[in-house]
Amino acid sequence: MTANENFDTSLQQKLEEKKSAGTIRTLIHATDKIDFSSNDYFGFAQSSILNQTETNNVPSGGTGSRSITGNSELAESTEQLIANFHNREAGLIFNTGYMANVGLFSCIASKGDTFISDEYIHASIIDGMRLSYANRVRFKHNDLADLEKKLQVATGKKIVSVESIYSMDGDEAPLKAIAMLCKKHEALLIVDEAHATGIYGDRGDGLVCKYGLEREVYASIHTFGKAIGLHGAVVVGSNTLRNYLLNQARSFIFTTALPPHIYLQLQKAYSLLPTADRNELNELISYFRATISRISNISFLDSYSPIQGIMVGDNFKTKMLANHLFDKGFFVRPILSPTVPIGKERIRICLHSFNNKKQIDDFLNETILFIRSYIIQ
Ligand SMILES: Cc1ncc(COP(=O)(O)O)c(C=O)c1O
Repeated sequence: MTANENFDTSLQQKLEEKKSAGTIRTLIHATDKIDFSSNDYFGFAQSSILNQTETNNVPSGGTGSRSITGNSELAESTEQLIANFHNREAGLIFNTGYMANVGLFSCIASKGDTFISDEYIHASIIDGMRLSYANRVRFKHNDLADLEKKLQVATGKKIVSVESIYSMDGDEAPLKAIAMLCKKHEALLIVDEAHATGIYGDRGDGLVCKYGLEREVYASIHTFGKAIGLHGAVVVGSNTLRNYLLNQARSFIFTTALPPHIYLQLQKAYSLLPTADRNELNELISYFRATISRISNISFLDSYSPIQGIMVGDNFKTKMLANHLFDKGFFVRPILSPTVPIGKERIRICLHSFNNKKQIDDFLNETILFIRSYIIQ
């Protein structure tokens, strides 16, 4: 066996381990299924509405990093427009939300400082923190007493990170109380608004704006791949933070800039956010919750956001249910441990303004039939 083949064999062994643990990932096509999975909350990505911008006059590629040839008046004016929209001084656009978090968290703290993050914080923030030399501690999910305990013993600069809406559980962080605790303990607060952007606030500006916490929150991350229907993300905060990040955030510096048409599309998407179909979405969330709570023998997430979940509590059974629903025409994915804690494996459902009540009824009927026949013995 060649060295390459040997190496492949060792990789294959690891894949077999994942297969027998029921955690192997495969790539699938979403074609012609009812979408209960994507993050395209208002259907912006599917509609042609964001393509109706004058993209002919801008280069099709980024041509270089933002620090070299990839910058433009268009990029900077878009950043300012988005920062203004979220009521912040400045913003810096990264190529993805993952890169925004990795860039921000890897460079914002030094040796001796302490990151304190919710235990359910997104992988991109974990990876960013891991790249820094600061200490890392976690507090129990949404648990203010535990957060305060961790704040009391933390050393150096203290940086607390939360998601305003959690991507797996769909629940909301108690942002006002967390902001007060951070103030009391002189800690910075950073809020990832990936799943709140577009959905909350009168204009879809997010939960930090909804609660008027712009002065208490040091920085927020708004991703563009979800309700905005595009790609990329912005870190909003002070001018100083922006200047610091464009000097220090390696995932900003060492990569080709986004293609310029995205800035035109972002301007269009942000102009649509104030009138996006939040009412329709909220009505479907209420309908989903009211319907599922009338069904016995089904356990579901206590979530008031578009992210809902049917708790199954076992990798294999969760996969079985997801496969069945997929075959029946619903695009849903199983969320397995270790992505979520053991025992909390689930079907994750993402509701959109373009879904309808009949789709929800059909989906829940199929789910409960399957659960009663094959999962509850
Ligand atoms: C809370 C949160 N932060 C960051 C990201 C990463 O964003 P992107 O998909 O733009 O890389 C995601 C996406 O899954 C997310 O859910």
